[in-house]
Amino acid sequence: MNDSSIRTKPGYEAWLGSPFISDAERLSHVANWTKAISVREEDECISTALAELETALEKLTGQRPARDIPQDQGGYLVIGTFNGSPEVREAFDEAEQAAVSPEGFRIRTRGRAVVIAGVSPKGVLYGAFHFLRLIRTGANLGELDVLENPANGLRMINHWDNADGSIERGYAGRSIFYSDNEIVEDLTRVRDYARMLASVGLNAVSINNVNVHKVETTFLTERYLPRIAEIADVFRAYGIRTFLSINFASPIEIGGLSTADPLDPDVQAWWKEKTEEIYRYIPDFGGYLVKADSEFRPGPFTYGRDHADGANMLASALQPFGGIVIWRCFVYNCKQDWRDRKTDRARAAYDHFTPLDGRFLENVVLQVKNGPMDFQVREPVSPLFGAMPKTNMIIEFQITQEYTGQQRHLCYLVPQWKEVLDFDTYAKGAGSTVKRVVDGSLFGSKYSGFAAVSNIGDDANWTGHLLAQANLYGYGRLAWNPELSAEEIAKEWIELALGHDERVVRVVSEMLLDSWSIYESYTAPLGVGWMVKPNHHYGPDVDGYEYSMWGTYHYADCRGIGVDRTRKTGTGYAGQYREPHSSNYEDPSTTPDELLLFFHHVPYTHVLHSGKTVIQHIYDSHFEGAERAEALVAKWDTLKGLVREEIFTQVKSRLEEQAEHAKEWRDVINTYFYRKSGIPDAHGRTIY
Ligand code: GCU
Repeated sequence: MNDSSIRTKPGYEAWLGSPFISDAERLSHVANWTKAISVREEDECISTALAELETALEKLTGQRPARDIPQDQGGYLVIGTFNGSPEVREAFDEAEQAAVSPEGFRIRTRGRAVVIAGVSPKGVLYGAFHFLRLIRTGANLGELDVLENPANGLRMINHWDNADGSIERGYAGRSIFYSDNEIVEDLTRVRDYARMLASVGLNAVSINNVNVHKVETTFLTERYLPRIAEIADVFRAYGIRTFLSINFASPIEIGGLSTADPLDPDVQAWWKEKTEEIYRYIPDFGGYLVKADSEFRPGPFTYGRDHADGANMLASALQPFGGIVIWRCFVYNCKQDWRDRKTDRARAAYDHFTPLDGRFLENVVLQVKNGPMDFQVREPVSPLFGAMPKTNMIIEFQITQEYTGQQRHLCYLVPQWKEVLDFDTYAKGAGSTVKRVVDGSLFGSKYSGFAAVSNIGDDANWTGHLLAQANLYGYGRLAWNPELSAEEIAKEWIELALGHDERVVRVVSEMLLDSWSIYESYTAPLGVGWMVKPNHHYGPDVDGYEYSMWGTYHYADCRGIGVDRTRKTGTGYAGQYREPHSSNYEDPSTTPDELLLFFHHVPYTHVLHSGKTVIQHIYDSHFEGAERAEALVAKWDTLKGLVREEIFTQVKSRLEEQAEHAKEWRDVINTYFYRKSGIPDAHGRTIY
């Protein structure tokens, strides 16, 4: 849906709506401080900042800011960079200017002016969006003094969109970029999306699926590059650099060569020329995102080369233009024999990549999924973080809810991401958290940051489930500042997207903050993962992947369940962690309950730290989980009349579906384990 009427549909404005300020006192406060905007510089991002401020302020106050500083006593905004604008410069002393990083900003009230200042135009743009957020969240504009620097250099969104308009693992409609193997004519929606991303500080986007199929392989040709350049133009105006996912076998598929061997001089020359051509279309092109030797995608292994050979070859081609290679570490044997209990998919990324530490060129960045498997509701943190001190690394999260309810169930993922970021790798002693690995500070990495798979599509509200917008918003906010709490982010999003009503804020916060735990409690228990229907991954199927080639097993039998990943008797995966994790995970008595079955095969009668047996935990958590899902509907019902009617109805119908589906999960899982174990529920509840 790309017609213009969509822009008035509920949820379309997401967190960027600018409703007229109805409170008279607040209105006069905001209107008085924003009578004019003074700008001295010519720059695309600054023009964007100006336009965003003008449009939003006009809607908020009914008065479009003038371009001349008011003669009377009214307040006005000054926006610009320290170097480009004397008015901006004089508001801050040298030390204050020096404290701002290349994409950071300061906002300060000074006399009648509120100054929004950056080192770069991008910083000014982020400052403008932050200022609008401050207005909408009730700040006193007469006493602002804000310094914000992004913690992470790369703050990226990955799209798994295909040229035919489908989205791999997309749950909110079709692609906003492509339809019928063409780039959509009208890029208005892409522009509105760029605004959303920039408003939360994101600065990079890859626009096609990491599984690069036949048509998308030709994105690197003149058939598509002119229009891809137009997409890049749209993103550039919002300070966002465009990347493409590439097919490692491109030299064969579109270059007419007989090999894609990264050490072959013709292949190297081909990539150099191709890269030059791309930069002719997109002068600030970000670089290549690569899924190689993973899930049937081609890669350097075919030629007896390794990932460093492959990545470095592409990096050399990009280096003269300042581009980077983002090389994914999601590499494992996806043709495993389920009878083989020695091979462990969880080990794979670490085993493949750690021997290569120090071999990658400086413009190569490894992209590592948060966990060792694949975005399950609960996994341990990938042991690759902290294990490659000489290599640039970014973390990959999945905003799209592939394994967490597909945007039909509510699952606010910020608390999960926070846990991962706060995990201590002990790479350089205590305090070596994942967030310090990926912000580059722990090892002094040149490139660092966050990437995540987008959850948007062309649904009018972007994310299908309206409350799933909080995940996209939260991802951006966290990429900018991983110290923000899940509670703070939830509150911000609710106020911006649903309004300030005290009850709305309280109830929706509770719903969001409980939702991950609720989802976990009625799906796969205790970190074991994967009990989903094959292929589409929606709904329970305990043995769906048990006898498959994907390396995702639970090994449940009549006595017990779980995967022995210990050094002593299992796959040795626990040994990929530094101490104290390695020893803790080695022993069931020091493994956290929620990860028990990830690391150990235990009898159903094994007693958890909680004091319950494994089997009783499974029954209890599933009964409780389904009840808690049902309670979400009742909670939402208390907001009738307090949120826009269409939004109320939309969300309610998703919550009802979730409550029904949670019962299905409950009954399938409980019945399966009752039948396997023969152990009845201590409370005699209905199991089939
Ligand atoms: C998951 C997902 C795939 C995706 C893959 C990846 O396995 O199901 O659709 O391609 O991750 O991250 O590459």
